[in-house]
Amino acid sequence: MKLANRIQHIPPYLFAGLERKAADLRARGVDLIDLGIADPDLPPVTALKRAVARHLDDPDAHRYPTSRGDPEVRDAIARWFHGRFDVSLDPETEICVTIGAKEGLANLARAFAEPGTVVAATEPGYPVYANAGAILNGAEFRPLPLTPAREFLPDLERAAGARLLYLNFPNNPTGAVAPEPFYEDVAVFADAHPDTLVVMDAAYAELSFAPPRPPSALRFTRRALEFHSLSKMMNVTGYRIGFAAGNADAIAALVNVKTQLDSGAPVFIQRAMADALALYDGPEPPEQARRSHLEYGRRKRALEDGLVHAPGVRDVYPSPATFFVWASVDDDVGFVERALERGVILTPGRGFGETGAGFVRAAVTTSRERIERALARLAGGPGGG
Ligand SMILES: Cc1ncc(COP(=O)(O)O)c(C=O)c1O
Repeated sequence: MKLANRIQHIPPYLFAGLERKAADLRARGVDLIDLGIADPDLPPVTALKRAVARHLDDPDAHRYPTSRGDPEVRDAIARWFHGRFDVSLDPETEICVTIGAKEGLANLARAFAEPGTVVAATEPGYPVYANAGAILNGAEFRPLPLTPAREFLPDLERAAGARLLYLNFPNNPTGAVAPEPFYEDVAVFADAHPDTLVVMDAAYAELSFAPPRPPSALRFTRRALEFHSLSKMMNVTGYRIGFAAGNADAIAALVNVKTQLDSGAPVFIQRAMADALALYDGPEPPEQARRSHLEYGRRKRALEDGLVHAPGVRDVYPSPATFFVWASVDDDVGFVERALERGVILTPGRGFGETGAGFVRAAVTTSRERIERALARLAGGPGGG
C-alpha cells in the first residue's frame, strides 16, 4: 500500500504517548481531572434539543439535504446575523450551511490551496488550518505567530501572497480577543491583497463574558468569509452544525467543493439550528445559553486566578472569552507530564504549532469543584517547583 505524499506530511500526533499514559492511569482507577478536551460538559440548550426531536417528524426531513443548506435555514441565519452583528447578508449567495465549522474550514481550502501556493494562519492555532488547509492540498503553510509581546495579534503583512489567511478570534488556544482596530486592519489588508481570501474562524464568538461582544469581520470587510458554529454556542459539538457567511465568490467556491464531497447537514439538524438562532433577542443569546457561557467565564477566572500560583507557571494570560486558559511555563511537555502524574490532564502548547512551545492550554470543561481540585493537585509541585 502506498499513501499519497500529502498524507505522509501530516505531522505525527505528538501526544499519543501522553494519551496512552492517561489511559493506563484511568485503567488503574486513578481519578484524572481532564482539562485537555475542548468539549463542553454543560448540557445542550434544551430548546435546540427539543427542536431536533420535533423536526425529526417533518415528512421532508429524511431525504438528501443540499450542500448549500435549506433556503429557510439560510433565511434564519441571515436574520440572526443581522440581529447579532448588524450585518445584512443575501441568504441566496452569501451563506452556506456547514457540517460544523471544521468541515467548512477544511473544504474551503480545496478551492484555493494547491501545490506552489501558501496558506497562512495564526499560530498557535487549531491544527485544521495547517493540516487540512495547507498540507492536505500540497500547499505551503505559513504561521503568523501569536505572542504575548504582540498581545496575541498577528502581523498581517506576513500573510502577503497567501491564497488563504485563516484568522481565529476569539482564539483557540490563547483565549485572546481582537479589539476593533484589529478588524479595521484586517479590512485594510483584504483590500490591499485581493488575491488572499481572509477567513475568520468565529467558532468562539458567542463564548464571551464581558463587553464588548466579539464583532463580525464582515462588518469591516466583505472580502472575507466567516465561520460560525453551534458547537460551543449551545453545547452541541456532536450535532455537527454551523455555517459560513460572507463573500459570494468564496461561498460559491465552498458550495462547489461541498457538492462533490458531501450532501450537507441533515435537514432536521439544520432546522433545529434555525429555531435555536431565532431564540436570540437581537444580539442577546437565549437565557440558558447565556447562563452556560457565564459559567464557563466563572470557571475560567477561577483557573486563571489559581494557575498563576502553581509551581512552574511563569505567567497566565487572562481573557474575557473562550473556555481556554493559556499559561507560559518552562517546558510545556515536561509540565504536562508532571501534571498528569498528579492527576491533571493539560495540553502542551506545541500541539498547536511550534509557536506554542513553552505554553500549556487548559480547557474549563469540567465543574468548578473539579477545577479547584486540579489547582490543589498542581500546587503540589507538578511544575517542578
Ligand atoms: C478554533 C476552532 N474552530 C473550529 C472548531 C470546530 O468547530 P465545529 O465543532 O463547529 O466543527 C474548533 C473546535 O474545537 C475550534 O477550536
